[in-house]
Amino acid sequence: RENVTFADHSLATDSVFSETQLISCRNVLIYFNKKLQDRAFGLFHDSLCHRGFLVLGSKETLDFSAYSKNFVALVKQERIYRKS
Ligand SMILES: C[S@@+](CC[C@H](N)C(=O)[O-])C[C@H]1O[C@@H](n2cnc3c(N)ncnc32)[C@H](O)[C@@H]1O
Repeated sequence: RENVTFADHSLATDSVFSETQLISCRNVLIYFNKKLQDRAFGLFHDSLCHRGFLVLGSKETLDFSAYSKNFVALVKQERIYRKS
C-alpha cells in the first residue's frame, strides 16, 4: 500500500491522469451510455503509456468503441487489452 497512490477520479467529469502502465476498470462501464463509455475509453487511451494494459470486466468490451483500433486484445475472454 505504501507504493500506491489513492485518489478520487470521476470518469464522467475529470481529465486524463498521469502516465499509467496498467488500468483495471471492471464493472463500471456497463452502467455508462455509449457517449460516456467513449469518454472513458478516451481517458484510458490518453492516460496509458505505449503498450500499457487495460483490463475490463467480463461483460465489458472495447469492440464497439471508437478506440478499438488503438488496442489489441491480448486475452479476449478475460478482457485484457494492450494499447498499440
Ligand atoms: C459495480 S461497482 C464495481 C466495483 C469493482 N470494480 C468490482 O468490479 O467489484 C461500480 C463502481 O463504479 C464506480 N463509479 C461509478 N461512477 C463512476 C465514475 N463516474 N467514475 C469512476 N468510477 C465510478 C463506483 O464507485 C463503483 O465503485
